[in-house]
Amino acid sequence: MKQFEAFKLDSANGCLYRDGEPIDLPPKPFAVLNFLVENPGRLITHDELLDKLWPETFVQPQVLRTYVLELRKVLGDEAGNPRFIQTLPKRGYRFVASVTNSQEVISVSASGAAQSSAQAPHPASPGFVNRTNELALLRSEFDRIGQGDQGKRRVVFIIGEAGIGKTALVDFFCRQLPAGTVVARGECVSGVGAREEYYPVNEALGHLCTSTAAEEWCRILARMAPAWLAHIGRQSEPPQPSSAQPTAQARMPGDLCAALEEISRTRPLVLVFEDLHWADAATLNLLAALARRRAPARLLVLATFRPHSIVPAHPLRALKHDMLFHKLCTEVALEPFPRAAVASLIMGELHQSALPPGLSEFVHHHSEGNPLFAIAIVEHLIAQQILVSAGQNGAAHYEIRSPLHNLSSEVPGKLAEMVELEIERLAPDVKELLEAGSLLSVAFPAWAVAAAVDCDHAEVEERCDALARDLHFVERVGEDELPGGARSAFYVFAHEVYREVLYQNQSAARRAQRHVRIAERLAQLFKGREADVAREMAMHYEAAGEMKRAAQALRAAAAHAAERNAHFEAVELNDRAAQIESQV
Ligand SMILES: Nc1ncnc2c1ncn2[C@@H]1O[C@H](COP(=O)(O)OP(=O)(O)O)[C@@H](O)[C@H]1O
Ligand SMILES: [Mg+2]
Repeated sequence: MKQFEAFKLDSANGCLYRDGEPIDLPPKPFAVLNFLVENPGRLITHDELLDKLWPETFVQPQVLRTYVLELRKVLGDEAGNPRFIQTLPKRGYRFVASVTNSQEVISVSASGAAQSSAQAPHPASPGFVNRTNELALLRSEFDRIGQGDQGKRRVVFIIGEAGIGKTALVDFFCRQLPAGTVVARGECVSGVGAREEYYPVNEALGHLCTSTAAEEWCRILARMAPAWLAHIGRQSEPPQPSSAQPTAQARMPGDLCAALEEISRTRPLVLVFEDLHWADAATLNLLAALARRRAPARLLVLATFRPHSIVPAHPLRALKHDMLFHKLCTEVALEPFPRAAVASLIMGELHQSALPPGLSEFVHHHSEGNPLFAIAIVEHLIAQQILVSAGQNGAAHYEIRSPLHNLSSEVPGKLAEMVELEIERLAPDVKELLEAGSLLSVAFPAWAVAAAVDCDHAEVEERCDALARDLHFVERVGEDELPGGARSAFYVFAHEVYREVLYQNQSAARRAQRHVRIAERLAQLFKGREADVAREMAMHYEAAGEMKRAAQALRAAAAHAAERNAHFEAVELNDRAAQIESQV
């Protein structure tokens, strides 16, 4: 019997249990889960799953997706933040939770590895290459945060250009942390979401409050930082203060720092803040406060950013200098991949252990060792049918069909230009959908794309699904339930660079028109629950330059919140409206 978190899997009898209670699971999804649990921590490609499970039968690869969706539902897992099954776009799946067998820990986990970082080196993970020194440094920083009341906080800045591998490094490192480590991750976003104060902090708190020991963390936050909890919608209303009006300032950074220190008393806490070049000032202040406080805390903060995306006067620059000067942080600057690492990366992408002569040199030379750029070049070569699969029986084996040097002048010198080239070759109606998707931060739902391009929702969803199947840089990650019960799938770009290029691709007038349509659709969909989406509507109106409508949306939502006695929310929405009105 294998165990992971509250689940037990009895493969001999084909049963899955949660907390000892049997769970109904049809045989095929069960077989998929069983295979993944038997092979924890390893990338299982679609082909391997299909070959091993149904060697005699033809099963459509898309069907796997349905089984995994079903498994995620049963396990309470999320594709965007996997506790059990991680999707590796276009490649396959990996079971990322700790699996135990009669008390024996046999695998690594998403939130904690079986081995301590001080123990034997981790087995190489398929898919992750290079970065040995950087991983060693991160592990030694983790070891330095210490034990119990002696805890010592550490901040590590991981810097490098877009696509160099900051996120990949942090994700890989976090997957290998010792069991029991709490990881909370917040991503700064560009686009409409960037206007929200404390966006990444809220996201990280949201993670904490949905993690395995969520109840315990929520209790600590409720006691020590109630306003923060209220802000992420985990607590309906803080107690109504008798004299002072509740305002947005009720979220004191000190309260949150103290609560995080308290959480780190029982378990090491790793906070990840991604893409700080887009962080709001409040988030940066909070980070400074976290770094400077003296109380014991077993806290490791990993913060990534692109140094070339911040202007000299950017507060992040001063913050980092100050922290380096006071020895409060360490910096890891990610270098380009050497040729051998580019070769390994391509082998991983193509699922083959040897490469046609000259390919890795060509890709390394043109990408200058940037892994995202390298992947985009390989995808380009495949799209141009220069790199062609000559495999038999479904096994991929790529060969070069025309001399690569003829192509040299065609490969642009910059990552963004390479991405532009990839996008240019798409049909206009495909580009239109993707451009609409780029108007949203983080993930884009089919209903919003449908609104932006003024098309039928179901049809757009089908077309987006096709995109997610065909394009390496779009992935379907889940489904939302809309008011009224309809469902809408949502998608992400594999990397922010794709969103940025697509966003810039549109004329300002076209963007504005589409933002307004999304805001209007939000109002329609959430009629009667405007407060829930007011901020989002206002962001779209603001992005369209429609400040009056942005403020109106917030005022209407504030009135609606007040009717529901949600005073805290009403004050905040009115504050935000006043801010926007003052800019008009
Ligand atoms: N060490 C690595 N091993 C394998 N692939 C990597 C590695 N680093 C980056 N990549 C690939 O490059 C892409 C871009 O890397 P990412 O970490 O998202 O860049 P960044 O966060 O610096 O913008 C990833 O999606 C991944 O496919
Ligand atoms: Mg990143």
